Amino acid sequence: MNIIDIITKKKNSLELSQEELEFAINGFVDGVVKDYQMSSLLMAITINGMSDEETINLTNIMLNSGEIIDLSMINNVVVDKHSTGGVGDKTTLVLAPLVASCGVAIAKMSGRGLGHTGGTIDKLEAIKNFQVNIDNDAFIKQVNEINLAVVSQKGNLVPADKLVYALRDVTGTTSSIPLIASSIMSKKLASGADKIVLDVKVGNGALLDNIEDAKKLATLMVKIGKQNNKETICVLTNMDEPLGRAIGNGLEVIESIKFLKGEAPEDLYTLTTSLAAIMVSIGKNQDIKTSLREVVENLENGKAYQKFLDMVKYQGGDINEIAVSSKVHSIRSSKTGFINKIDSLKIGNLVKQLGGGRVNKDDVIDLGVGFVLNKKVGDYVVENEELIKVYYGKGDITVNDILNCFEIDVVAVDKPPLIYEIIR
Ligand code: URA
Repeated sequence: MNIIDIITKKKNSLELSQEELEFAINGFVDGVVKDYQMSSLLMAITINGMSDEETINLTNIMLNSGEIIDLSMINNVVVDKHSTGGVGDKTTLVLAPLVASCGVAIAKMSGRGLGHTGGTIDKLEAIKNFQVNIDNDAFIKQVNEINLAVVSQKGNLVPADKLVYALRDVTGTTSSIPLIASSIMSKKLASGADKIVLDVKVGNGALLDNIEDAKKLATLMVKIGKQNNKETICVLTNMDEPLGRAIGNGLEVIESIKFLKGEAPEDLYTLTTSLAAIMVSIGKNQDIKTSLREVVENLENGKAYQKFLDMVKYQGGDINEIAVSSKVHSIRSSKTGFINKIDSLKIGNLVKQLGGGRVNKDDVIDLGVGFVLNKKVGDYVVENEELIKVYYGKGDITVNDILNCFEIDVVAVDKPPLIYEIIR
């Protein structure tokens, strides 16, 4: 077997066997298959696709390239949630304590920001002294005691994905559905949860910008989950405008705390309660209506907020010190009309430019910068009214850069639904 024949086979749209995929992936991890050869194979996969069987095999090979976390010491059903990446997406910060407060264990390993999208671990680090790296025994103990821990991805989890993803990022192969499905599902399966809920984002600020592709991805991930005996549910959700009002690490923590204390932006409320109800329902094997009632109750009676405070305390954080820049500038509208679009991709990239996201993997980021939207899509704005607040630091952006993120017109557009479909 040799890598050139494998690349050629995929170039000719033929199916690769399990042995051929093993040869390519394991060879790449071992350094026998070179970057340029793997790049070529990834491009052939991106162009010609993969059968479901190939994708399932690829996922399992990636999964077995490293450590698989054993959560069997947790004496409760563990349900995991993952988002394919969005802007202003602080869902995990509110969803995790909410679901945990309803009696389902959350033992979550999260990532950092990637490209224009944020990451939960960066957000949690905006809370002073919050420890995202805790050893395995302490992690399990915390989940057994309070039902909740959110930590940085630990150990040698799916090393094949780390290497392949880095290459995809620089070879124009990030949008391939089989590659996304195998990347996400190998990591979710390695993280050890019993059941998985995936928030598949669709739209301008997401990895996939059309509903058909998002549906294909979701269906494939549900199938991979099933093959591995893990119940997997995908929720297709809109990412055409930032979620909630805050975008930027510390600002999103503050918005999440307000949410848990009862002050919720409508879109964040709808998404979080819907995802939470699904997680509680599969975690406790009960109907969705009862689960939604529990979720809403625990938001209103403060149990979800208390659970968040418990987590912060266990992980060493100081809830009274959250990184937010003191340099604030209000940007006002140059027009009167309806807000028809807030470009989440551009907003996400501007947060990065402000210093709130990484250009290079090892960049130290400014956790206090970002935006707070005063207007959302569908709102009416009059000239000179505030559109958005900028919390800035050393990064350089202009007022026009920000105004260009908004489309304002005299006629309002129909707002798309927030939740498109649930695939199980
Ligand atoms: N998130 C991942 O982990 N992998 C992808 O390929 C895309 C999003």
